[in-house]
Amino acid sequence: MRAVDIILKKRHGKELTKEEIDTFIKGYTNGDIPDYQVSAFLMAVYFKGMTKEETAHLTNAMVKSGDEIDLSKIEGIKVDKHSTGGVGDKTSLIIAPLVASVGVPVAKMSGRGLGHTGGTVDKLESIEGFQVELTTQQFIENVNRHKIAVVGQSGNLTPADKKLYALRDVTGTVDSIPLIASSIMSKKIASGSNAIVLDVKFGSGAFMKTLEDAKALASAMVGIGNELGRQTVAIITDMDQPLGHEIGNANEVQEAIAVLSGKGDKDLTEVCLTLAGNMAVLGGAYSDFDEAKRELQKILESGKAVEKMREFVESQGGNGNQITNPETLPQAKYHMEIKSDEEGNVQTIDAESVGIAAMLLGAGRKTKEDNIDYAVGITLKKKVGDIVAKGETLAVFHANFEDIGEAEKTLKNAYTFTNQSVEAPKLIHDIIK
Ligand code: URA
Repeated sequence: MRAVDIILKKRHGKELTKEEIDTFIKGYTNGDIPDYQVSAFLMAVYFKGMTKEETAHLTNAMVKSGDEIDLSKIEGIKVDKHSTGGVGDKTSLIIAPLVASVGVPVAKMSGRGLGHTGGTVDKLESIEGFQVELTTQQFIENVNRHKIAVVGQSGNLTPADKKLYALRDVTGTVDSIPLIASSIMSKKIASGSNAIVLDVKFGSGAFMKTLEDAKALASAMVGIGNELGRQTVAIITDMDQPLGHEIGNANEVQEAIAVLSGKGDKDLTEVCLTLAGNMAVLGGAYSDFDEAKRELQKILESGKAVEKMREFVESQGGNGNQITNPETLPQAKYHMEIKSDEEGNVQTIDAESVGIAAMLLGAGRKTKEDNIDYAVGITLKKKVGDIVAKGETLAVFHANFEDIGEAEKTLKNAYTFTNQSVEAPKLIHDIIK
């Protein structure tokens, strides 16, 4: 079977077989098929699409290209969660201990942040002593004992995806639904959980800009999960403005602790309960979602969830006192109020720009090599739908230097105002099973 014949078949819009896809991905991973042929293949997929079966075969071929994590020594139904990424997205910090506190095992691999979105691993590392590198044995022992462990990505997971993603980036083929869906799901499936809950975000701060595209991506990922024997549920959520009020690292941990203590932002709590409720049902803790959500709300209010967070932090070498006393988390030297030059109702807040402003303060990385400053970040005082007077505080910058000019300009440009009244946006738009 020649690579060119597979490219031609796809270019003609025909459905590829499992063998053809396996041969192509294997050949690319081991270097037998060159980048120029794979580029042509990716462009053919971009224009002709893939069926549900082809997308599942592609995902499976990427999973088989590298290591697969074996979680079989962990008791129970392991449920993973994935977010397509956003600004101020601290949901993993909340959901993982919340779900663990009802006995569902969470064995999670998380990433670092790059650009305008932060990573769960960076946020956890803002806690003194927290270790994201565990041996496989420690990882399994921690999940069996505490029902939760979160580690950084390691091992040789989905090398085909790494190569393909780099090539897509330079060939204009990133924004193809089958290619995005297979890329995300290959990593989740190789990570070994039995069931997956996906938070598919759309809006200015997300990969998918429209609700329609987010639904298409969610359906493709749920289809892959079902084809490959992992129960998968996708929640479509809004990312047209940052999630919650805090953007950074230590300050996001602080906001997560507030939610885990039952005293958090209402919208953020609602998103977390929806994600966690679906995870708890997939993990077998409850038989239906409404019951799960009600019970999880009670757990937040009872103090059990924040206690589980402390136990989890201590189990990975972190200082648990910082969970009980969040004001002891890293704090910046300066807290500067950013005042509005305009008045009116907040119409939009461009999430990506807020993420960039936080990065300029040092909370994120411009390149992979950059160090981040855990103490710095942004607290949003005004969100979509709020009324603002001229000179009122829009946000507070937590910074370790005084020259905040560029970040301030970026933050101010993120806001648009209107004199019409604006309703706060709905956060949860659909659940796809
Ligand atoms: N995230 C991924 O992991 N892969 C994509 O293709 C897009 C976003």
